[in-house]
Amino acid sequence: MWSSRLAFILAASGSAVGLGNIWKFPYITGENGGGAFVIVYLLCIALIGIPIMIAEVMIGRRGERSPINTMRMLAQRDGLSQRWSWIGWTGIVCSFLILSFYSVIGGWALSYTGHAVSGVFSGASADDIGAMFGGLLSDPWTLLLWHSVFMVLVIVIVAGGIRSGMEKAINILMPLLFLLLLVMVGYALNSGEFMQGFNFLFQPDFSKLSTEGVLTALGHAFFTLSLGMGVMMAYGSYLPKKVSIVKTAVTVSIVDTAVALLAGLAIFPLVFANGLEAGAGPGLIFQTLPLAFGQMTGGVLFGSLFFALLVVAAVTSAISLLEPVVEWLEEQKGISRLSGALIGGISIWLLGMMTILSFNEWANFFPLEFIPAFEGKTVFDLLDYVTANLLMPLGGLFIAIFAGWFMSKQAVKNQLGLGEGAAYQSFMFVLKFITPIAVATVFIYNLS
Ligand code: PHE
Ligand code: NA
Repeated sequence: MWSSRLAFILAASGSAVGLGNIWKFPYITGENGGGAFVIVYLLCIALIGIPIMIAEVMIGRRGERSPINTMRMLAQRDGLSQRWSWIGWTGIVCSFLILSFYSVIGGWALSYTGHAVSGVFSGASADDIGAMFGGLLSDPWTLLLWHSVFMVLVIVIVAGGIRSGMEKAINILMPLLFLLLLVMVGYALNSGEFMQGFNFLFQPDFSKLSTEGVLTALGHAFFTLSLGMGVMMAYGSYLPKKVSIVKTAVTVSIVDTAVALLAGLAIFPLVFANGLEAGAGPGLIFQTLPLAFGQMTGGVLFGSLFFALLVVAAVTSAISLLEPVVEWLEEQKGISRLSGALIGGISIWLLGMMTILSFNEWANFFPLEFIPAFEGKTVFDLLDYVTANLLMPLGGLFIAIFAGWFMSKQAVKNQLGLGEGAAYQSFMFVLKFITPIAVATVFIYNLS
């Protein structure tokens, strides 16, 4: 059991806050034209993400088991089909696929920590920094080295069961990351095209937003909050009965959103000040932030700290991705934690090679291009799309339907602790109708 509400918030934020906020949010915002995308993303957080997080934590706390067994047990208790346990299964598959590319990007952050410490950013031009990133991507062996270091870190932590020790460190490191982001926003205010960056983020131009952009915004709401795959359900199983699920879920979501918006405010003013491309893709932060670190006073210190903390944030999210895979291997295959961590971790490490090659040898290999939605997508693009845009929202849709329509009403009331008044009624209305209809609508528009 978590000792307090704060312990749960820190643990859940450790999973939520990661590369999704600092690496993915800025680059997909850039690719999808800015403001309109951000508004849709924020709406998805509020109307879909928060209700689903509440539903997941509530199911987890009632089940008090791993996601697969929780779903199995609750379905049985309420006289429902055992098929509900599929939610747990797809969650395991999703964790496996996500970690395979997450670790490669975590490797980029490791490599950039090294660069920052060595001082190579000092005085470098936008071209130099661009060439540095291009050099990293074109070299599969270096990518493999850092991907391996990242996976070893994650495997050691999960195998050693030293999460609790880590969580103590997180209590200090996460706020520090937040502070450093504020420093970067301050730098952008002084030396970047701040207003241009601000307007890019917050001034909507809906003509720039495609249907696929809406799906990307929806998918990112799931990805960034670690939803739809049982991760929050697992955390919920440790939450003490007296803690308010609604308040904690809202807090975690606000923290996560604040980190993403700060990252955007730090990066886009630099993009415009240096004549870079907002839609540059996955390399966006690695091509902009080093410029700032190379120019600001104390840049070596700030840069090293920043990338190191980004690695820490990525590792804590990665732990929450490997954990369910190991737990499943332990439960189903009856093997030890160490073997589970090794077998799961090494398989994921191997799959990661596909992402590494997607940035060089396989950069023009689009394996599923006969399917219109997958045209021009590399293996990395596909892994990202299938997990964030398809599997996670689908898992979330079923979680919302389960909690809103099928789970015992009395149990829901007890878990929520909102009484039976207006607060409870309006929350249930959102969970039963708004959330599922919104997810289904975005899906239907994209498939048709
Ligand atoms: N939420 C994490 C991030 O934003 C990624 C993640 C997704 C972690 C799914 C766990 C489960 O970086
Ligand atoms: Na996140």
